[in-house]
Formats: sequence, structure tokens, C-alpha cells
Amino acid sequence: MVLLNYSLFSSSILLFIVPFLFILISGLHLGKKSSSSPVSKLPRSYPLIGSAFAIFKNRKRRNQWFAELMRDSPTGTFVLHRFFGVRHVLTANPSNVQHILKTKFHLYPKGHTARVNLSDLMGDGIFNADGDNWKFQRQVSGHEFSTRSLRKFVETVVEAELSDRLVPILSKAAAENSVLDLEDILQRFTFDNICKIAFGFDPQYLLPSLPATEFAVAFDNAVRITSERMYSIFPATWKLKRALNIGSEKQLRISVSQVREFAQNIVREKTRELEQKSSLETVDLLSRILSSGHLDEKFVTDMVISFILAGRDTTSAALTWFFWLVSNDSHVEEEILKEIRDKPEISVYDEAKDMVYIQASLCESMRLYPPVPSDTKEAAMDDVLPDGTIVRKGTRVIYLPYAMGRMEGLWGSDWREFKPERWLERDELTGKWSFMNRDPYTYPVFQAGPRICLGKEMAVLQMKRVAAGLLRRFRMVPAGEKEPFYISTLTSKMKGGFPVRIEERKGS
Ligand code: HEM
Repeated sequence: MVLLNYSLFSSSILLFIVPFLFILISGLHLGKKSSSSPVSKLPRSYPLIGSAFAIFKNRKRRNQWFAELMRDSPTGTFVLHRFFGVRHVLTANPSNVQHILKTKFHLYPKGHTARVNLSDLMGDGIFNADGDNWKFQRQVSGHEFSTRSLRKFVETVVEAELSDRLVPILSKAAAENSVLDLEDILQRFTFDNICKIAFGFDPQYLLPSLPATEFAVAFDNAVRITSERMYSIFPATWKLKRALNIGSEKQLRISVSQVREFAQNIVREKTRELEQKSSLETVDLLSRILSSGHLDEKFVTDMVISFILAGRDTTSAALTWFFWLVSNDSHVEEEILKEIRDKPEISVYDEAKDMVYIQASLCESMRLYPPVPSDTKEAAMDDVLPDGTIVRKGTRVIYLPYAMGRMEGLWGSDWREFKPERWLERDELTGKWSFMNRDPYTYPVFQAGPRICLGKEMAVLQMKRVAAGLLRRFRMVPAGEKEPFYISTLTSKMKGGFPVRIEERKGS
């Protein structure tokens, strides 16, 4: 009996392995052949393994590969076949994006897979929530982004961090002619900012000594490993590693516990304040949540973690690429300086609101290098996308801002060029620029529809203020790769950071 079972077991293994090896060998062979012959660049799909070869080959340049796939697909949509018949719909088609983000919003929640992948780090925070839980968090956070709160944010928090910390650090680097990693500096800046505005807490990461940032390292690790789960070729692997507490999953567990401890301390400190004062004087997001009676520590901690991710990594990534692009384009730099010189620093809020050329440059920079390169939804029911793509219940549908910013059909044959004028219209009489918004489904850098980024206005104001405040005084001279490489976890980064020398402008 045992022997019979054994032979049945081994023959079923053979039944699986033999065709697999056959496909593997023929796949490698075909892979070689296709590199020299002019066949379609869209990847082949094989029984059982789907397009595993192409996925593996492009694993370190996923965004760039997806952008090529979208350009090669006649409809801007491609169904990527993964192991064992799993299909992912990738799209850069604005009609499809509108369909999933707005028209059929209820059919495309974040879904089960994202939930399973993200919940160790994010718990029930807004980025990982659907339904009533999402609605509640959206409602309670909304106040943070009202015009009054935004004005306060720019005039107090951003301003103080800029003039008391960021400018002195860059001045010192200029005087010493030293090389700084501007990406790191900007991450410290945005981290201090988001903690102050959302939690009324100053972590002081942007100090002249550039203190060790244990929390930031743990946070980066946790985000990276979590995002690797989302795109892992064999999802069963990470689940097994988690069950055995080994490898990357062990590292994730350690990093997540450091992140949670940090976030929990912020929540506990605020709760203590609340108990002592009966009502909180500060009106940050965290105070409001706690004052409204939501005292479940785990839930409030989840919210804090989502806000750190939202506020720290996005704006710092956008600014890093913006400064790199501007430092390589003397025309854009000159136009920005003209705009800055025309507007003396009177009211920082109004000044930031008015700077349309800087706004256009930021939008253009995020078109080419979006802080969030892709976003996943999961079909709650069978559906058909506007371009005719059939979507089965449970399929992941991924729209791709990085690819969309690089489509000739959407931006013209000069899509490679950094051209802020794309976003501007000049008044023939006054010669003044005015800003032209683009359709949010063609440019879903902040997502769109009911789940559009809550911090969009805040982020744009903050970035304009920082761009104007720094470019007025300094020139950034890149000291690294000629063309840095765009990489991403859940958000994007410049591979290896952004080393720069700082030059103080004369008469600044
Ligand atoms: C350049 C800067 C930013 C970009 C490009 C950006 C982009 C995005 C994107 C693509 C999403 C959708 C993510 C998803 O559902 O998976 C999102 C959501 C969100 N963003 Fe931003 N974001 C930026 C800055 C900020 C800032 C500064 C805040 C404020 C703290 C913020 C708060 C949020 C929140 C709370 C959500 C969740 C909205 C919801 O699910 O209803 N974002 N953002």
C-alpha cells in the first residue's frame, strides 16, 4: 500500500515536472531566438507557467518593462499570464482607468490579495481599507485637508522646517563644497513635516547632525518587503517563509514591530495628553481621531502608519526627480527663477498658490517619474473593460501611471521631453502663464475618482514652497549617475539616492 502510494506520488510529480522542464527548455530556446528576430515584444505565455520567463527577466525593471508592454499593445492594455493560470490585467488606457476608478468604483475595491499582502504592515489603515472602514477614515481625515488647515500647514510647519532646518543644512553643504544625498535630506524633511501636521509631533530627523534614522530604515525595509510580496512570482513562497519565520519574512516581522512601536508611542503620548487636558489644544489629525472617541490603539496606530507612508515617501520622491530634471535643464531653471524673482516672498501661502510655472514643472516631472508608479484593484465581479478586455471576478487590475506618462498617444511624439509648457497657456495680452489641468484619468498620478489622494493639494503646496524656497537660493549640481535609475517599492525612489553639490546663488 505504502509502495503504491509512493509510486502514485512520484508519477504525479513526474507528470508535473516533465512538461514543466520541457516548457522551460523550449522557453529558454525561444527566448534566445526572439532576441534576434523581429517578433512582437509582448511576452509569450506557456501552459502552467504563463510568462514566467519574461517576468523573471524584467523583475528589476518592472516599471520600464510595463511601459514598453503598454506602448506595444494596440489598446494600451495587456493581460499578463502568471503561474497556474493567474491573470493580471495591466492597463494604461484612460477609458479603462476611468471605468475602474470612477464609473464602476464599487466593482474594483483594493480586494483580498492586497489585504493579505499589506496587512502585516498597514493593518486596517486607509491604504488597506475598503467599504465602511475606508469611508470612516476618509471622513475623519478630510478636515486635515481643508483650506484653513492647508494655509496653517504651509505658513507654519513647512515654513519653519524650510527656513530653520533645510536651508541652513544646504548653506553649510555649499560652504563646505560637500556632497549631499538630496533624496535622504528630502525624506527627512517630509517625515518631520507629516509628523508635525498629522500627529503634532516633531521627530527632528532633519538636524545638521543628520541623526541615525532607525525608524526610517525599518520603515523602508517593511515597505520594500511588503511590495515584493505584491509582485512575487510564487506567492506561496512568502507565505511559507512567514509561517517558518525565516529570510525576508523574518526581517519584515522585525521591521514591522519597530515601525509599530514607533507609531504606538506617538498614539500613547497623545492619549496621555488627552487624559490630562480633557480636550487637546492642538488640532492635528491624531488629536481629532482620539477626541472623537476612537481609542482602539491598534486601529489608530494603523492610521498613523498609513499617513506616514502617504506623506513622507511621495512628496520626497517627487521633489527628488524634480530637482534632478531642473538641474539638467537651463531653460526650465531660468523660467522658474524668473517666476520666483517676479514674486517677492510676502505671504508664503499666496506666493505658493500663484506659482504656475513651478506647478507645471512639478506636474511634468511627476508625469515622467510618478511617486506611485502603479496601483492595484481587484474585480469583485465578472466585468468587461471599455476596451473589450474581459475581467473575471478576483482578477487583479493594475493601472500604471508610470507607463501612462510615457505613451505617445497620450502626450505626443515628444513625450520623452521634460516640457512644463505642456501644462500652461500664455495669455496673449498680458503674456502671463495660466495653468491647465489635465484629465485625471490620463494623468492618475494622484489616483482619481472617490479615492483620489486626500493630500493632493497639501502636497502640491508643500512642493511648490520647497521648490521656490530652495531654487531661489541654491543651484543643485548632480554629482552621480548621468541618468539615475527609477526604482519602486510601493512608492518610487532614485536608485542609489541623489548625490548633489550645492552652490549658493549670488545675491540670494
Ligand atoms: C506628490 C505627492 C503625492 C502623490 C503623488 C500621492 C499619490 C497618491 C495615490 C496614487 C494614492 C492612491 C493610493 C492607493 O489607493 O493605493 C493616494 C492616496 C492617498 N494619499 Fe496621497 N499622494 C501624495 C501626497 C500625499 C500627502 C502629502 C498626503 C497627506 C498626508 C497624502 C494622503 C493620502 C491619503 C490619506 C490617501 C488615501 C486616500 C483613500 O484611500 O481614500 N498623499 N495618494
